[in-house]
Amino acid sequence: MTSVAVVGSQWGDEGKGKVVDLLTEGADLVVRFQGGNNAGHTLVVGSETYALHLVPSGILHQGKRALVGNGVVVDPDVLIEEMDALAARGVAITPENFTVSSSAHVIMPYHRLLDSARESPLPSSSPGGRLVIGTTGRGIGPCYEDKASRQGLRMGDLLLPDRFRERARTAIMEKNALFTGLYGLPETRLSDLEALRERWAARLAPFIGDARKILWDALEEGRNVLFEGAQGSQLDIDHGTYPYVTSSTTLSGGICGGSGASPGTLDRVLGLVKAYTTRVGEGPFPTEVFGTHGDRLREAGREYGTTTGRPRRCGHLDAVAVRTAVALSGITSLAVTKLDVLRGLGPLKIAESYLLDGQTIRHMPPDIHDLALCEPVYREYGGFEEDISGARSLADLPSGARKYLDGLEDLCGAPLGLVSVGPERGETVLLEKFF
Ligand code: IMP
Repeated sequence: MTSVAVVGSQWGDEGKGKVVDLLTEGADLVVRFQGGNNAGHTLVVGSETYALHLVPSGILHQGKRALVGNGVVVDPDVLIEEMDALAARGVAITPENFTVSSSAHVIMPYHRLLDSARESPLPSSSPGGRLVIGTTGRGIGPCYEDKASRQGLRMGDLLLPDRFRERARTAIMEKNALFTGLYGLPETRLSDLEALRERWAARLAPFIGDARKILWDALEEGRNVLFEGAQGSQLDIDHGTYPYVTSSTTLSGGICGGSGASPGTLDRVLGLVKAYTTRVGEGPFPTEVFGTHGDRLREAGREYGTTTGRPRRCGHLDAVAVRTAVALSGITSLAVTKLDVLRGLGPLKIAESYLLDGQTIRHMPPDIHDLALCEPVYREYGGFEEDISGARSLADLPSGARKYLDGLEDLCGAPLGLVSVGPERGETVLLEKFF
């Protein structure tokens, strides 16, 4: 039995979809434990491309089981759409291979509304400025807020009409005061929510259950379990670049609370590192590159959001950020993705440390006030011109690519476990046996 976690070690979009899909071959169970449909994983399987937001990518493999853990926030409409789209493409989704935790919180329409309202300019009659995070607008933050303030609706509540009605009634009382008072939006009606509940329950009831029991049974039976993280370490609610973060624990530590696995369950933590850095939305990004190099990275890497289509900000690899993720998540090895994108983009740089008030620092400062004062100190690498998509071992790589990887491994502080040299499953240098 082996348990492996895959977590992002940057600002998300590290290419987790492909790696999770690859590792799923050896796993029996694939579990999501945080985030929601703010995530977007693109997978290329043969000639087919899949963009998944909620359903764990493990579902694409026959004979595997996929769980959406209690720490995930679920938009039932998105889930139903995704399940239907997969089914239409011949991917079987049944209660035997897919379960959503009855304790996972439901993203309600008023959460999406609130998320968008907060990110838009206030009506001119309202006082004050506001903090724009650049969220995905999916209602993630407001849903987690309701969870923490105990006003949330959970997937299990969809199956209990009376309880749903009472909880929804309480939840919309405050929301409506905000909508009509501050934001100039129409009220949410309880009857509309009840109609949604009925529709959602009719489709999803067979899939809602005790996901953690399924996980515990699998662990007891000695099965291989893969935990699929979403977003990245620097977007973590506590340790990321607050307040420019998402609202969940994106670190491996989030697995316990978000799935019911106990500490000590994990045998390995694979940290995903894109060979350069990207970020979507607002917030500090010390190694961001503007102008031609940034544009070339964006085009070569097709760096546009899977979820929102927004162009991603691009920059040099930041070993300080990755090293911090290694410390936070106990990363045992690194999966370097999109190395092929750097072909012809040399010379390449990796930030090995920051200078803050004349001091060299090797981990991200916990506050963005200090981060804004940090100056990256770079190491430079020649880069490479060759097509590397055919490489299946480190020895197949040109020396320019090898040197860059050696530098990355050395500076980030964890050994390489895998290097992705192209979008397809097979375009991978596997250096470690995960299961
Ligand atoms: P939210 O998660 O929609 O609340 O967005 C909060 C921040 O996290 C914003 O900067 C988003 O761009 C970012 N974010 C959320 N999900 C992802 C993701 O899957 N990849 C990259 N950035 C993300």
